[in-house]
Amino acid sequence: MLRLLLVLASLGLWKGCDVFAVRAQNFNTTGIRIQNGFERVYIQPFGTNGIRVRASLLRDPTGTELSALLDPPLEGPGGDQGLSYGQSIGYLGNAALQNGNLVVNVTNGVLSFSRVESNGSLSLLTSEYTDDKALPARYYRQEFRSPSFAAEYSFTSDPDDQIYGTGQQACCTDNTVNKKGQVVDLINFNSQVPIPVFMSSKGFLQFFNVPSQGRLEFSAYRTRFVASEATVVDYWITTASLGDYDSLQEQYTAVTGRQPVPPEFTLGYQQSKLRYYNETQVIDLAQRFHDEQVNVSLIVVDFFNWQYQGDWSFNTEFWPDPAAMAAQVKALTGAEMMVSLWPSVEDLSVNYLALQEGGLLATTRDGPGIQDSFAGVYTRLVDSTNPAAREFLWKRLNDSYFSKGIHNFWIDQADGGTLGEPFENNGQNINSLPYARAFTQYFIGTQEGAGKMYPWLHQQAIDEGFRNLSEPDPASNGCNYMSLTRSTFAGGQRFCSYLWSGDTSSRFDVLLQQVTAAVSVAASGLSSWTLDIGGFTGLNIDTAYGQQLFVRWLAMGTFLPYMRVHGDRVCNIPADSRQYLANNCPNEPWSYGAENFEIIKQYIALRYQLVPYVKKLFQMLHETGRSIMRPLYYDFSLSDETVVNATATNNPLVVHQFMLGPRILVSPVGVENATTKDVYLPRLPEAWIAQNFSWTHWWNDTNYGQGGETVNVYAPIDQIPVFYLGEKADILAGNV
Ligand SMILES: *[C@@H]1O[C@H](CO)[C@@H](O)[C@H](O)[C@H]1NC(C)=O
Ligand SMILES: *[C@@H]1O[C@H](CO)[C@@H](O)[C@H](O)[C@H]1NC(C)=O
Ligand SMILES: *[C@@H]1O[C@H](CO)[C@@H](O)[C@H](O)[C@H]1NC(C)=O
Ligand SMILES: *[C@@H]1O[C@H](CO)[C@@H](O)[C@H](O)[C@H]1NC(C)=O
Ligand SMILES: *[C@@H]1O[C@H](CO)[C@@H](O)[C@H](O)[C@H]1NC(C)=O
Ligand SMILES: *[C@@H]1O[C@H](CO)[C@@H](O)[C@H](O)[C@H]1NC(C)=O
Ligand SMILES: *[C@@H]1O[C@H](CO)[C@@H](O)[C@H](O)[C@H]1NC(C)=O
Ligand SMILES: *[C@@H]1O[C@H](CO)[C@@H](O)[C@H](O)[C@H]1NC(C)=O
Ligand SMILES: *[C@@H]1O[C@H](CO)[C@@H](O)[C@H](O)[C@H]1NC(C)=O
Ligand SMILES: *[C@@H]1O[C@H](CO)[C@@H](O)[C@H](O)[C@H]1NC(C)=O
Ligand SMILES: *[C@@H]1O[C@H](CO)[C@@H](O)[C@H](O)[C@H]1NC(C)=O
Repeated sequence: MLRLLLVLASLGLWKGCDVFAVRAQNFNTTGIRIQNGFERVYIQPFGTNGIRVRASLLRDPTGTELSALLDPPLEGPGGDQGLSYGQSIGYLGNAALQNGNLVVNVTNGVLSFSRVESNGSLSLLTSEYTDDKALPARYYRQEFRSPSFAAEYSFTSDPDDQIYGTGQQACCTDNTVNKKGQVVDLINFNSQVPIPVFMSSKGFLQFFNVPSQGRLEFSAYRTRFVASEATVVDYWITTASLGDYDSLQEQYTAVTGRQPVPPEFTLGYQQSKLRYYNETQVIDLAQRFHDEQVNVSLIVVDFFNWQYQGDWSFNTEFWPDPAAMAAQVKALTGAEMMVSLWPSVEDLSVNYLALQEGGLLATTRDGPGIQDSFAGVYTRLVDSTNPAAREFLWKRLNDSYFSKGIHNFWIDQADGGTLGEPFENNGQNINSLPYARAFTQYFIGTQEGAGKMYPWLHQQAIDEGFRNLSEPDPASNGCNYMSLTRSTFAGGQRFCSYLWSGDTSSRFDVLLQQVTAAVSVAASGLSSWTLDIGGFTGLNIDTAYGQQLFVRWLAMGTFLPYMRVHGDRVCNIPADSRQYLANNCPNEPWSYGAENFEIIKQYIALRYQLVPYVKKLFQMLHETGRSIMRPLYYDFSLSDETVVNATATNNPLVVHQFMLGPRILVSPVGVENATTKDVYLPRLPEAWIAQNFSWTHWWNDTNYGQGGETVNVYAPIDQIPVFYLGEKADILAGNV
């Protein structure tokens, strides 16, 4: 039988057969180089159970291309090896390479990836997509004006594979956790942070280490990665046993970076709105928190605290003494402060000329270099891909804010290419015209070829600033301060930073949709995540609908990695005409009616009780990359087939619930006027049952057993449906 299979394999007749009775011991462990006409392919062991593939045309990869991979990786073999290889093959060549339990086999020039099972057999994960008549699996188009090219890489997939991750699609109708069947545009804008990394239910993770714009296509039989412009196609693949998504995350974050532990104050309650627009308002706000005895840990000042875009300093007319303000906020509440910065620079800014003369602004292929317009002026982006620009930016931020006691920065609108709205000229109220996006050019390359790295390098500017000014506590491997960002790229989890889901709409269905966005981001290696409690746009605080929506959203927010209230509220108070977008509508715990205030206070108090647990989850994330917000398939795909089937079809019953760490199941209410809710309690794995775990109702400690069923529970507005495992005292002590 073994001999027969080997014969079939050598004849290439094994296709479609998933498991090979082939012993794996004899595979080579050194890298492979393929010289295939004008194409060169380097295949190397990298990280734990990982293989890295790099391909370029006409010339070798330089090895210095933009990369989100850490070399050497934090764990596993293969670091610092450059382009080294031990096996060299040519056109239609054969070779194989094994690293840990991952094997790549090159057969007649075609790559296939298999997992070595514990019994020594091989399970095919994916291979380059070939057919008698098909586009080549590695397909290129070149303009010959530059070394760059467009690339389309195709891999096999099966119709019932499930695909998870791909970053964040957060506004507002994409309710998928399983991305099979979808096309994901690799282009950033407000709420859209697509990342070319995904996990397959076959037990592998694939990451395209290319910051190019392009597409991921997940069709029935073929998965395709499209890069609009690249000088190297660089991808990394890793495997783990079926259902072991934590290991995939551990291995992936070992090659792209681990989240440093955020400072404890960010785990408390964060108060923000569009917008506090002068110093008195902020001090009054802190006084009110103090008087009401409501805990607050971070108070945020939004955009247009500056006079001109690109000033990166307060408008002194409204913010005469920020140091005194920050000190008073601290004295009254103990809270830290955060301030917004935008990447846009207008020509009236004090910094414009210095940036322009220094070549520190992004430019365009033609014309004067304008990327966008906002608030009635044309703007250009600071080129944070240039180290000199990062230094310039940080110096201004330090002088204006950091050195005055405002230590945390909100990186808004820095999605790259433009100010990150779907179309340009968003400030001009003509945003449905079909503009082409600006052909933005940076120090590191074009928006097309490198633009997905722009927000990442913007994050890096702040991160470097923090590290240069204040050494983080090496014992905790933590952060002293944080940035909040609207966008990022693969590996963004290595920064003292958290992502939020951008400008969402204030609706119940969007509240639920946030769960699918969150767990997809988590499955992309990014657990340092939050959202605008209440949604960003359209919440009228004077309506019953708006008030109810806010409280339901806040209830979910209590159980997120960060609890952050923000939004552009609607009310009867007119905006202040003396400033741009000076919305006066309140958005504080006491702004939603007296009855709701009591409920909101309870949730905020509960959040502070949960801080030790959440902190523990961040420590676990730091150590092993273990996701904090967990889609149900992470923990239950082996013990509960209903979870697998419901995830396949993106059934809302299952995909709108999540685990917060290993012990808490959250099932947010997303229906107006609901009084009860159906909750799916997944069947617990045997090992958990052996620990005497059972689903226990958070609010009244009723035992619901070991799951595998839908239960209907009361869901009054002050009791979000939540279940826990084990002892509540252990959870509150962070002892998990
Ligand atoms: C791997 O292949 C190279 C080149 O053919 C050979 O020199 C080396 O001995 C092989 N290593 C193993 C472990 O088979
Ligand atoms: C793996 O590679 C070897 C030699 O390179 C080849 O003979 C064999 O058919 C391949 N097996 C599979 C399963 O692709
Ligand atoms: C080896 O293990 C795999 C995965 O568990 C299984 O599918 C396969 O049937 C096993 N093969 C043999 C020969 O036992
Ligand atoms: C600050 O804002 C308040 C409105 O909340 C307004 O009454 C006050 O005049 C403003 N102060 C300054 C200096 O603009
Ligand atoms: C941090 O310090 C290094 C070394 O002095 C410097 O090169 C870099 O520009 C600094 N980064 C920022 C953002 O200021
Ligand atoms: C930051 O500001 C402080 C206080 O003005 C100053 O001492 C320090 O040198 C500044 N650091 C940088 C990197 O600009
Ligand atoms: C406020 O937070 C502190 C910890 O920072 C906690 O001890 C206290 O119980 C909290 N108060 C309320 C009302 O939640
Ligand atoms: C899950 O789906 C498979 C395939 O459709 C089916 O055979 C199985 O019975 C389903 N299981 C459950 C628990 O629904
Ligand atoms: C919710 O209740 C309010 C007050 O009774 C009512 O006006 C509204 O129509 C209800 N909404 C829905 C969707 O039932
Ligand atoms: C198991 O859990 C049940 C219900 O939570 C509890 O009553 C019982 O004491 C536990 N048994 C052990 C051995 O801990
Ligand atoms: C606890 O809450 C559940 C869900 O709302 C409810 O069905 C049950 O009756 C409650 N049990 C007690 C003892 O109050």
